[in-house]
Amino acid sequence: MTFYVTTPIYYANSLPHLGHLYTMIVADTVARHKRQQGIETFFLTGTDEHGINIERAAERAGRTPKEQADYVVNYFKKMTDEFRLDTVHGGYDMFMRTSEPFHYEGVSELWRRAAKAKTPKGNDAIYKGHYEGWFCAPCAAYKTEDEYAKPAEAGAPPTCLIHETPLDRISEESYFFRLSDYAEALLALYESRPGFVQPESRNNEVTAFVRGGLQDLSVSRLKTSVSWGVPVPDDPDHTMYVWFDALTNYITAIGFGNEERERAVGFEKFWPALHLVGKDILRFHAVYWPAFLMAAGVEQPRAIVAHGMWLDPKGRKMSKTLGNTVDLDVLSRHFSIDAIRYFCLREMVFGQDGRFGYEALIDRTNSDLASGLGNLSSRTLTMISRYADGLIPSGVISEDKLLLAKRTGVDTDETTISGFIEHARDQIRQHFEAFAFSKALETSWSVVARVDKMISDAKPWELAKDENQKQTLSAVLYRAAETLRWLCVLLYPIMPTATLEIWTQLGLGNAPGVPATPAGIDPAKLKWGELAEGTAIGEVKPLFPRIDKAKTMGEIKEQEQTAGADGRSDRAANDRQSPRSSVQSQPALGTGDVPPAMSVEREHHSGVHATEADAVLASPNTPQTKPSPSMISATEADAVSSAEGVTSFIDITDFTKVDLRVGEVLSAQRIPKADKLLLLTVDIGEEKSRQILAGIAQYYEPEQLLGRKIAVVANLKPRKLRGYESQGMLLAASVGDEGKPVIATFTEDVPNGARLK
Ligand code: MSP
Repeated sequence: MTFYVTTPIYYANSLPHLGHLYTMIVADTVARHKRQQGIETFFLTGTDEHGINIERAAERAGRTPKEQADYVVNYFKKMTDEFRLDTVHGGYDMFMRTSEPFHYEGVSELWRRAAKAKTPKGNDAIYKGHYEGWFCAPCAAYKTEDEYAKPAEAGAPPTCLIHETPLDRISEESYFFRLSDYAEALLALYESRPGFVQPESRNNEVTAFVRGGLQDLSVSRLKTSVSWGVPVPDDPDHTMYVWFDALTNYITAIGFGNEERERAVGFEKFWPALHLVGKDILRFHAVYWPAFLMAAGVEQPRAIVAHGMWLDPKGRKMSKTLGNTVDLDVLSRHFSIDAIRYFCLREMVFGQDGRFGYEALIDRTNSDLASGLGNLSSRTLTMISRYADGLIPSGVISEDKLLLAKRTGVDTDETTISGFIEHARDQIRQHFEAFAFSKALETSWSVVARVDKMISDAKPWELAKDENQKQTLSAVLYRAAETLRWLCVLLYPIMPTATLEIWTQLGLGNAPGVPATPAGIDPAKLKWGELAEGTAIGEVKPLFPRIDKAKTMGEIKEQEQTAGADGRSDRAANDRQSPRSSVQSQPALGTGDVPPAMSVEREHHSGVHATEADAVLASPNTPQTKPSPSMISATEADAVSSAEGVTSFIDITDFTKVDLRVGEVLSAQRIPKADKLLLLTVDIGEEKSRQILAGIAQYYEPEQLLGRKIAVVANLKPRKLRGYESQGMLLAASVGDEGKPVIATFTEDVPNGARLK
């Protein structure tokens, strides 16, 4: 059995930051989890080195494109080395670069196959046509919607944001990929392969996008416009569209189209891959890539799994343009690698966006790691050294001592704790399979809490005073140590360094018949009681020193200021001008943001050109009319109370006319051209979920609402808004002068459909 996981290949025009690190950490965790199960795993990462943006970044920096790529690659390798994500530290197996000659061979092969193919509708999959777009002569480049200013008067051309001069509408010969013929085949693929696009909410978005109709894709540029790229086979006047080139890295890296690579890794052996991507590039992976592969007759990937984006503490997407990215130098200087890994996977609910704040990172390090796992480990080991001569004691309480042990309140039935941990192990494994790392960690910490409590309740320091309670004391210490052994194995993929440290301190690093690291044990095969009595523990050392918050925050601020003032000017210069650099500040291509984003593309780029800049979506800030008051929220128009207080009284019978129900938000998305509205599907305990429109889009990210319990007016007459029927209304408080909605919610567990009265 083999397993193949990939990260996106990162653009070689800007330097790595937390966003890139996060994807690497997730992929690394997945790879380690698979390897731990004895599955031969290949983990690929790398850089995307072609295209106009890299050409330009190179020009600005006075480098050749290859030198520019080398420069950025060095930084990525520095990151993978510093954060122990490289091969030496058990991380990636290969760092792919699209400027490698073997990649050219493989991409050309894929193109040739596609070019020979017929679409499912019997047309040529690739054909020659004309690309039409807005061109800026001084920039010598086509401009996408976010790169030009719309004209003040209708009919006039837009203007370049850099030069403020009018753009020319020009057209250029280009090859097109007949994507429009693949919609049915793609829908059939999503339908027949549940889990092909994950999480499910992303699958729904992709499906909705494809259902909306697909436009053919321009897949080449004239060499005179873009020269840094793979030439189109048999037509060197054309350079391949950079996404065609980039996506293909996933197969060329392991041997597609090149025998040497095939021998070194093996396309036959490892394909299909699980592609881990940020939701910003979901469309390319879940729509374009499968279509290219269909045309070329290559097997589809195993899955496309999209994670969310890191936002700053104010909830803005991290972007170089906003200057709110988290600097890797700052991170590595103040935090241990495992604390960062833990934080990233714990704090970000996989698939949803997450906020990053140094204070939160410090708090979690101190509470969950220093006081949590670290403290459990050090107190257990210290007591073993103090009360058991540094040897793992026996966990058995003999018959004649059972009663005595019971009197101290210690549960004499060892299966109570082993059963608890086995159950937790099963849950953690399931969470790993579902990429629910946050839940896996929550469950693990329930184990930490449980054992901490066992120790505090048993008071080993008291037991140690009574010779008759020696066995009880030993059993408590054994259970704590055995739990630590299990936690090492379960947490290894997420915290490889700290778990190895605990493993070694438990004396397992060189114990006979035991793998030297927790990497060598499949969690499924863990058996309670396999920690051998008599094992000599190692030296007890602190794992996660507590961080002095005020001091560290001060240092971070200082470091950020200095870095902003000097060190990273190169980075900033590249990023500011790069058309790609704003991608993280744009609406994501995935979430609830997808419908507007994708429809923007359809309207403005339709049948035209999909360059790499196409990945930068136009902001759908189209003017819109105010939604009808009742759609804003109950409080703004419909509620009886007003800001001034209760204006009139109602009878209880009036109130009972309102059917208020508990609902759970199953999905949430934005609506094209309506930047105030969110379209929700809500389960209110009926057979079919309700579709509800809510005027809260300016205050809530769709992701924030998923899974949230809300109060719904269930018997409000359905009404249509913007072409969507709203079958109810959610309740929200109206706060402040601008009437900011704050959704009413429940702090306790309530079933969907429960009535509010
Ligand atoms: N070169 C393309 C990908 C081609 S794959 C065939 C590209 N590169 S990129 O440098 O812009 O990297 C995008 C990826 O970096 C995201 O999909 C995500 O994996 C990661 N991230 C970049 N910023 C991020 C956040 N703010 N948050 C989380 N991940 C982010 O797109």
